[in-house]
Amino acid sequence: MDEALKKQALRMINYGLYVMTSTDGKDVAAGTVNWVSQCSFKPPLVMVGVKGDSHLHALVEKSRRFAVNILADGQKDLANDFFKPTQTSEGTLNGRPYVAGSTGCPLLTDTPASFECRVAEIVHQGDHSVIVGEVVDAHVRKTAEPLHMRTTGWFYGG
Ligand SMILES: Cc1cc2nc3c(=O)[nH]c(=O)nc-3n(C[C@H](O)[C@H](O)[C@H](O)COP(=O)(O)O)c2cc1C
Repeated sequence: MDEALKKQALRMINYGLYVMTSTDGKDVAAGTVNWVSQCSFKPPLVMVGVKGDSHLHALVEKSRRFAVNILADGQKDLANDFFKPTQTSEGTLNGRPYVAGSTGCPLLTDTPASFECRVAEIVHQGDHSVIVGEVVDAHVRKTAEPLHMRTTGWFYGG
C-alpha cells in the first residue's frame, strides 16, 4: 500500500469535533475527540475511537460511563482547551463551566448539546479502542451548526 495515498484517502472522511468526558465519582477525565459515530438505532448506540494509553480510556474502562459534548461552529477555542490534561476547579473543567449529568459525567454548558452513555462494549485493537456506548440521556441547550473538523485545519486520522 502507498502510505501517502492511504493518508490522503483516510483524511477525506468527514468528522465533527466533540469533548468526551467521564468520571468514576472521584476522578474526572475529558478530551477532544473526532472519531465519533452513531452505530445503531435500537438500542441507540454510538462508537468512539479512544487512545488506549489515555487517562480518558482508563477512566471510561473503570467507570463504564461517558458523555459526549457536541461543539458548535465557532467553538474551536473550546476544542483546543481539551487537548490538555484535565483540570477541575469549582464548577469548571479546563476553565469551562459544567454540570453533572444523570450518569454523573460532566456536561459542558457552553456547548449546544450533549448525550450520556453507559459502556456496552470496548473493542481493544490497535492504538485506539472502539468504545461502544448505549445512549441513556440527551440534552439540547440550543440549536446550532456543529463544528466540522475540516474547517479547523486540524487532522486526526490517516
Ligand atoms: C484534532 C485532534 C483530534 C483528536 N481526536 C481524538 C480522538 O478521536 N480520540 C482520542 O482518543 N484522542 C483524540 N485526540 C487526542 C486527545 O484530544 C488528547 O490526546 C487526549 O485528550 C489526552 O488524553 P489524556 O490527557 O486523557 O491522556 C485528538 C487530538 C487532536 C489534536
